[in-house]
Amino acid sequence: MARIIPIESGTDEEKAQAIAAATDVLLRHRPVAIPTETVYGLAADATSAAAITSIYETKGRPRFNPLICHMSDLDMAERYAVFDPVSRTLASAFWPGPLTLVLPLKADAGIHPLATAGLDTVGIRVPVGFTAELIRSLGRPLAAPSANSSGRISPTTAQHVEADLGQKIEVIIDGGPCPVGVESTIVKVENGEIHLLRPGGIEAEAIEAVTGKTVIRLKASGTAAIEAPGMLASHYAPNASVRLNATGVAPGEALIAFGPGEISGSSAARAVLNLSPGGDLAEAASNLFDFLKRADASGATGIAVATIPYEGLGEAINDRLMRAAAPRGTEG
Ligand code: TXA
Ligand code: MG
Repeated sequence: MARIIPIESGTDEEKAQAIAAATDVLLRHRPVAIPTETVYGLAADATSAAAITSIYETKGRPRFNPLICHMSDLDMAERYAVFDPVSRTLASAFWPGPLTLVLPLKADAGIHPLATAGLDTVGIRVPVGFTAELIRSLGRPLAAPSANSSGRISPTTAQHVEADLGQKIEVIIDGGPCPVGVESTIVKVENGEIHLLRPGGIEAEAIEAVTGKTVIRLKASGTAAIEAPGMLASHYAPNASVRLNATGVAPGEALIAFGPGEISGSSAARAVLNLSPGGDLAEAASNLFDFLKRADASGATGIAVATIPYEGLGEAINDRLMRAAAPRGTEG
């Protein structure tokens, strides 16, 4: 069992204790589970080979899949990466927040090559709240993938982290449920054009509104695997099979619904969980991973998921659901 340290009451004393406990583990080159606005992260010193190795080992993650490096603010980020004007505009508009920028790495600045899987770019984001304070206090960037075993559903509560990784880590900082609930949006600017590597907590529409530029999506058959090496087809895998765009519930299935509409057969479902009865996509995103885990825990043989609109945060929700429904055996 990991030590779970709450920071939810928000007192300075509580925060100072949590920062001290996390720092003690981090300085021993070990990982700590930390709350962010998107999902819980498994954080370790991005400048230490031993620390990064312990992240890959704890998660069982393939080492070709680079980690996002978290910074306290834009000033710190500029020490480690080269910003073009569009990326700087995006950083100013959305940091702290659920946006990761893939940028040219300043090779001698100190990020360990294991964190970037040897690439000449680095994924950087500035998270909201406690984790940015922890990084500022530590004075070093934290590499942090989601705090789940590789290929499994990302955690949005400290209890999710404990259930998956509690035997392998020392400390979990408990900031309560993550308000966004899906991971950060990842973009890479090349020649002034914005490429979407992973839809996430910042809507593509918001990026377009701030920059006046069209966000370019990778085609389904395109180079996503190369551009964001972690975007493997099967990910977020529950034990039960996942069936999308369901209009009815089959015997033995649990239902994940969205909006006020009725789905036939739902009275016989093993569990019925509505992501947002009022049809709000932000509420749906914040419930998504918890409901996938709960539907799985209901003992259902399959999980039927109602249609979710594609606009706004619906793009990230549908991306995660498609990965949860993909054939198994290719997860990362
Ligand atoms: O919201 C989030 O982004 C969470 C929290 C903890 O910050 N983190 C997260 O990390 O989702 P992870 O490791 O589960 O996903 C990181 C993704 C992977 O798909 C990885 O391939 C991609 O970011 N990535 C990291 N560095 C990259 C780079 N230099 N170029 C392209 N893709 C990169
Ligand atoms: Mg992940």
